[in-house]
Amino acid sequence: MRLQKFLARAGIASRRSCEEFIKQGRVKVNGKIVTEMGFIIHPEEDKICFDDKPVRLPKQNYYLLLYKPAGYLTTAKDTYGRPTVLDLVKDIPRRLFPVGRLDQDTEGVLLLTDDGELAHRLMHPRFEVKKTYKALVKGIPEKNELLRLAKGVELPDGNTSPAEVKLLTAKNDRAVILIAVHEGRKHQVKRMFAAINYPVIKLKRIRFAFLGLKGLEPGSYRKLNRREIQKLRRLVGLS
Ligand code: URA
Repeated sequence: MRLQKFLARAGIASRRSCEEFIKQGRVKVNGKIVTEMGFIIHPEEDKICFDDKPVRLPKQNYYLLLYKPAGYLTTAKDTYGRPTVLDLVKDIPRRLFPVGRLDQDTEGVLLLTDDGELAHRLMHPRFEVKKTYKALVKGIPEKNELLRLAKGVELPDGNTSPAEVKLLTAKNDRAVILIAVHEGRKHQVKRMFAAINYPVIKLKRIRFAFLGLKGLEPGSYRKLNRREIQKLRRLVGLS
């Protein structure tokens, strides 16, 4: 197994951060610092240390589906002491990473796991995991404007990829629109609607890949079952 994959699976951090830690010389294999990327280790035989502390693969990883309420940050720690999504999963005895980010005022499906390898792949644009949102917007977009959104709009960081867009309701100068995207750029959905001049008032992620919010209340979570974990792994090319 590659060293960075081992560290990610062990819950040290996401794979990208683990690669940084290796480059920084913070990882030792059998007492020697290894900075070579892709170094192969044998988890049963080799002794791996991160910052001189032994690292072992957990017997099991945690895979949680949280109904993130609005008002919570998707960061590990906030310097202003504001609530974070990790406050909602305090009873889990492992360091968990959110898979991607939802804005503070966005609610909905958020995956949390200590499996850094899976988290890394689920966030990677290469695997194009579908994220579906319900957006309440100010104004009622015309058909051709929604088509523009679906085809891709120009943002300062490049054109957006094709999206699925469907008008659900429209009244009193407000519309509710279903939008599914395969990218995960910062504030992406809000910026896409801003690009066609319909500001988002409220945003909810109703699905991440095939996982929805059924049976969950805002602030509650459930563990994924084996079948769901396998399905997620297969989605991103892991067996
Ligand atoms: N797009 C946004 O603009 N915000 C989110 O929280 C998620 C997607």
